[in-house]
Amino acid sequence: MKLTSFLILTSAVSLVSALGQLGFDLGVRITETECKEASDYEDDLDAISPYGVSTLKVFSASDCDTLEILGPIAEEHRFTISLGLWPSPPDKFEAEIAALEEFLPTIRKATIKSFLVGSESIYRGDTTPEELADLINEVRDVVKDIKDKEGATFDDIPVGTVDTWNSLTNVSNAAL
Ligand SMILES: *[C@@H]1O[C@H](CO)[C@@H](O)[C@H](O)[C@H]1NC(C)=O
Repeated sequence: MKLTSFLILTSAVSLVSALGQLGFDLGVRITETECKEASDYEDDLDAISPYGVSTLKVFSASDCDTLEILGPIAEEHRFTISLGLWPSPPDKFEAEIAALEEFLPTIRKATIKSFLVGSESIYRGDTTPEELADLINEVRDVVKDIKDKEGATFDDIPVGTVDTWNSLTNVSNAAL
């Protein structure tokens, strides 16, 4: 019996290593219209911590003031954030950039694991590959000049996107 449990644990662990590092996709709303508050995030991170997952993924910096509220809490709990940014419509993208400029300086750069511009925006046709590539470059330009709370810049934090594998391998999307 003990041996069986051990073997199951071993295969689970090697499966995780084979998959790479796991993260947790964190919702930022309690209901469709109600945003989470700091205390909700505290509860979330307390609940997730025992699972050995230390990276969070969110879709937006500006929705529900996510970067403002979650950033310092994640940092305090030693989580890193893969920070999503909506590339469209243009006023949403501007709000994302404004959130970066205002709130990245409130945390340490090590708290941000990556900036992810768009989520399936090529697959869904929200942006063309060329438009998305331009926006990714724009985010790179913006974050390289933002200083974190210790004066370090975010210039070496990866900036990329999330999309379906066939969107990423399709030669029609080479601009990306
Ligand atoms: C690649 O993208 C083009 C343009 O969207 C599409 O017509 C084509 O079917 C795609 N090819 C594959 C293999 O998905």
